[in-house]
Amino acid sequence: MSQRFRLSQGIKNTGRPPIPRAYAWAALYPATEARPLLDMSQGVPGVPPPNMLLDAMAAASAAPSSCGYLANAGDPALLQAMAKEMKECYGEDADILADDLVITAGCNLAFSSPQWSLRMRETRSSFPFLAVLLHTYANEGFLPSPERCASLITSKTKAIVLVTPNNPTGAIYPPNLLASFASLAREHNLALVLDETYRDFVSSGAPHHLFSPSSVGDAPLDWAWRTTLVHLFSFSKSFCIPGHRLGLVAGPPAFTAALCTALDSLQICAPRAPQAALAPLITSGALRPFVQDMARAVQHRHALFKARVPPRWRIGCQGGYYAFVRHPFVGRRAEEICERLAREAGVVTLPAGFFAPPADEKEGEEGRWVRFSVANVDDRKVELVCERLAECETTFGWELD
Ligand SMILES: Cc1ncc(COP(=O)(O)O)c(C=O)c1O
Repeated sequence: MSQRFRLSQGIKNTGRPPIPRAYAWAALYPATEARPLLDMSQGVPGVPPPNMLLDAMAAASAAPSSCGYLANAGDPALLQAMAKEMKECYGEDADILADDLVITAGCNLAFSSPQWSLRMRETRSSFPFLAVLLHTYANEGFLPSPERCASLITSKTKAIVLVTPNNPTGAIYPPNLLASFASLAREHNLALVLDETYRDFVSSGAPHHLFSPSSVGDAPLDWAWRTTLVHLFSFSKSFCIPGHRLGLVAGPPAFTAALCTALDSLQICAPRAPQAALAPLITSGALRPFVQDMARAVQHRHALFKARVPPRWRIGCQGGYYAFVRHPFVGRRAEEICERLAREAGVVTLPAGFFAPPADEKEGEEGRWVRFSVANVDDRKVELVCERLAECETTFGWELD
């Protein structure tokens, strides 16, 4: 029996979430003890949070004080803690105050919240805005081009949105490139939204200097970040608590005030117990060694994957949680490869097309990219995945490069 009320065209036009699609293929794989399913699809931490955080969350959850609502912007102690922690990441001269920050129920909500605050209109997706894609290319290291971006800006443009380290390509955008985008956004009076969910997995120093005065690093001349920048962060990856749903937004005062108004009807406040648990542990720096160890482990796994992946599977980019790999089968779309990898070889990955609107999925060479999440498996599983990729070159029976 079909329902009697209508769904919005926007949600109908939105592609189904990628992970359930990949897991539907994986469910058809006959896993055995000797040949288990190897899941490199979802960008989830492969390890639990440290015991000190688990214990603190247990205690915070049991406290009656955690049961009430919080202010829209979040737990003041966590906001203070994160203002301090961001200086560790972006440099001591980073000008970040607790008042600049808002805690959301996960970074995905942080990601969609600016669109509510910037009053974008519903068009063709579940978000209340029209996203114009800024394509990146293998021969440019999957780095976005400010020139190409400039050519897409119209009088209707509200924001430039970048994800670095990127999902799905893994590309890490260097500080000078981000500074160019900051200049471009400022020139056109746009917001520059940076989703830096994977920033703690960058080992090459501060991800950028955009929180610092213009005299520092690559920040544009006369730069004042509170005119232009909206920064997004997730607690899911750095602290291994994706199920507890905490994200963060840093932005200009009028923007964060508008954001709190929007959040009041979306979440009221983010989950309270994990905020209470994290605040003292982040303030004291007690969790920092864990985050750094995990970043080193993920980097080691990237190196292992690079060393072991069969040569025909060409790595286009690696960074954050992901390796972006061109499959070796001539004339085949990545979706076909990922389906057979999951169903027949028990290796679960995502085709790049799952990250684009359905109309934008690529054919030919552009459609041959597969995302492997190296973060959610251990070293042994990385080796097994690479062995199975080599086997598929024969068992699939398809023409190879
Ligand atoms: C770039 C990016 N932003 C946000 C998220 C979601 O983070 P959260 O779990 O905090 O909602 C993800 C999750 O994979 C991501 O890749």
